[in-house]
Amino acid sequence: MSKIIAVAGKGGTGKTTTAALIIRHLLKKGATPLLAMDADPNANLADSLGISVPDTIGSVLSDFMRKRAELPAGMTRQAYLDMKFHQILKEGKSLDMLVMGCPDGPGCYCAANSILKDYFENLSKNYPYIVVDNEAGMEHFSRKTAANIDTLIFCSNYSLKGLKTVTALSAMVDDLKINVKDRYLLVNRTPETLGQEFLDGIRDTGIPFLGHIVMDAEIEESEIKGISLIDLPDDSETVKKFEEILNNIIP
Ligand SMILES: Nc1ncnc2c1ncn2[C@@H]1O[C@H](COP(=O)(O)OP(=O)(O)OP(=O)(O)O)[C@@H](O)[C@H]1O
Ligand SMILES: [Mg+2]
Repeated sequence: MSKIIAVAGKGGTGKTTTAALIIRHLLKKGATPLLAMDADPNANLADSLGISVPDTIGSVLSDFMRKRAELPAGMTRQAYLDMKFHQILKEGKSLDMLVMGCPDGPGCYCAANSILKDYFENLSKNYPYIVVDNEAGMEHFSRKTAANIDTLIFCSNYSLKGLKTVTALSAMVDDLKINVKDRYLLVNRTPETLGQEFLDGIRDTGIPFLGHIVMDAEIEESEIKGISLIDLPDDSETVKKFEEILNNIIP
């Protein structure tokens, strides 16, 4: 059974950085083949992993809606979409990648989404771990792919407002009836020491706290220089902190 590890949180809180460093951790452990999934419509996980992914599930779905009447003779919608989804799955040596993107045309995508859900369910059997970078609300991921998540990590910035958002997102996950085994809180871009009010705020979320990632110039620089986070050195402060945190939850 594959384990789904998902990262969620509002914009700019470090979701993609976290997802990329979880992938780095799993690759180092040899927990492969691994599937990375970018479920954020403002997709940027591929960039952080140094992978180029030209097509998205969204573009396949839009294309399908436009050309429905012209499917190859004798081919079912399911067979056609399965083939197209498989064509855009970016396959690497130990890491494969799927980007959800966002369909851009009008129409009802329910039937296509249901085929996507089945495709994802079948595909997921090939991987011990699937790491998902989500949009804040997670509606798309839950509706189109999986309703079960093993580990959900909420990212927050260093603000009480950020923590309030996490509490709201966690409630939203329940409203969406997403089945989450373990949920955690991670705070990103912090000072070395967290203030007492903030620590109280963390406690008030009621979500188990994984730890905090200190503001790190090396991470900012990797982004600006377009260096893959997978290639960060083992002695990077952020990598070391992630290893410490992840060894506790993904030993
Ligand atoms: N610990 C850190 N120290 C310094 N910069 C960081 C740290 N973590 C993330 N960043 C930088 O902060 C920015 C936002 O991080 P990231 O892209 O991971 O957030 P996100 O939640 O995925 O954002 P978005 O919602 O835009 O997708 C990026 O430029 C990233 O390089
Ligand atoms: Mg992101």
